Amino acid sequence: MEKLILPDIPELHKVDVYEANGGYQMLRKALGMKPEEVTDEMKKSNLRGRGGACFPTGLKWTFMPKVTTKPKYLCINGDESEPGTFKDRQILEDNPHLMIEGALIAAYAMGIGTIYLYVRGEYNKWIVMVQKALDDAYAKGYIGQNILGSGFSTNFYIHRGAGAYICGEESSLMNSIEGERGYPRVKPPFPAQFGLWGCPTTINNVETIANVPVILRLGWEAYSKIGHPKHPGPILVGVSGHVNKPGVYEMPTGVLLTDIIYKYCGGVPADKKIKAIIPGGSSTMILRGENIEGVTMDADGLKAAGSSVGTAGLIVMDEDTDLIRVITRITKFYYHESCGQCTPCREGTGWMFKILKRFENYDATLEDIDLLLDVANNIEGNTICALGDAAAWPVQSMIKRFRDEFEQRCKANGSSTKSVAKEMVHALR
Ligand SMILES: Cc1cc2nc3c(=O)[nH]c(=O)nc-3n(C[C@H](O)[C@H](O)[C@H](O)COP(=O)(O)O)c2cc1C
Repeated sequence: MEKLILPDIPELHKVDVYEANGGYQMLRKALGMKPEEVTDEMKKSNLRGRGGACFPTGLKWTFMPKVTTKPKYLCINGDESEPGTFKDRQILEDNPHLMIEGALIAAYAMGIGTIYLYVRGEYNKWIVMVQKALDDAYAKGYIGQNILGSGFSTNFYIHRGAGAYICGEESSLMNSIEGERGYPRVKPPFPAQFGLWGCPTTINNVETIANVPVILRLGWEAYSKIGHPKHPGPILVGVSGHVNKPGVYEMPTGVLLTDIIYKYCGGVPADKKIKAIIPGGSSTMILRGENIEGVTMDADGLKAAGSSVGTAGLIVMDEDTDLIRVITRITKFYYHESCGQCTPCREGTGWMFKILKRFENYDATLEDIDLLLDVANNIEGNTICALGDAAAWPVQSMIKRFRDEFEQRCKANGSSTKSVAKEMVHALR
């Protein structure tokens, strides 16, 4: 497949090179269309958000009120703080103008006068690069007043995050831009009604927005035929862990996980077996290596396998991986990143981490497995935002699919090998 989001064109991040390769032509095209025609193209293309929930993008855009006395906002989500996810960064580095052009088209379609790109603060190198791209786009008349003589005006600002995963959640993101603490808001009201400063707001992921000019270029029909029909288009898959060639790969949706691992990423070092994979970033449910045959990278394929596509951050773990250490580390992350607003998440993530530490140290009992599951079950669905679910799902799926690993780490099962391992764990600390 032709690479549409990250084509192999040297120096594409420069505005002149981007223009020489057809850049900003789709903005011109959009400005010649009616705003609702642009939204219609998105709806018919079947583009689904790449920020984790796979929500239909065109439909989301229709939620924005056409007539309002208030200003309207577009927030582009580049917080990218989920462990295992690092694909938006690649767009910011290699093709920032595609994201900028997509944002301008989206703003035109929804009548939006202000765009914010919310980026994780640690991405300083990429923030500097995107600011340069924005300055160049302003200088060329693509952003600002009366864009290309169309009468449409919009501004574009970068907002740096300060290292909090929770600020990737859309309502925390808006609070953070407002200068408030990054607490998620109770919904409804939804952002299209009451978003940034109480005004209509749309939030889309960086990769979602980068797909917008591609759809206008190919036309919705051709776009909707790329990859899986219910979740079409190019997708950026970030692969990490035990593969020979980790990295960000662009592919159509619907590619077999085994093809991603063996064809794109050159297989597992030393030809070891795959013990487990996490398909879409650390919050998605873990799968056993022997069960990934025939599973595809798209919303339906991963749902059928008992997980989800999330942000397509595929983590591969070979046969020697200590999964108890993996889940303890993941849980430590969610414990640390819980904003503390909801009791089940604030307390539960800490309890899960404490119990998991017992398994890590060969100090747990068999009852601790069910206790851990009980805590996870009481977090899931009981919080304002989905961080609680994100913390519960890895634990629930790890117990469901690798209960044997937990049983082997109970002190009742302690053997001389286990105590050697226990000593080693202590020595490593
Ligand atoms: C705890 C948490 C963190 C999130 N982090 C991100 C993020 O870093 N980037 C992102 O695009 N979406 C993130 N999301 C999802 C956003 O809330 C939102 O659904 C998304 O930005 C919408 O974009 P899309 O429709 O284009 O996918 C996060 C959600 C939660 C609950």
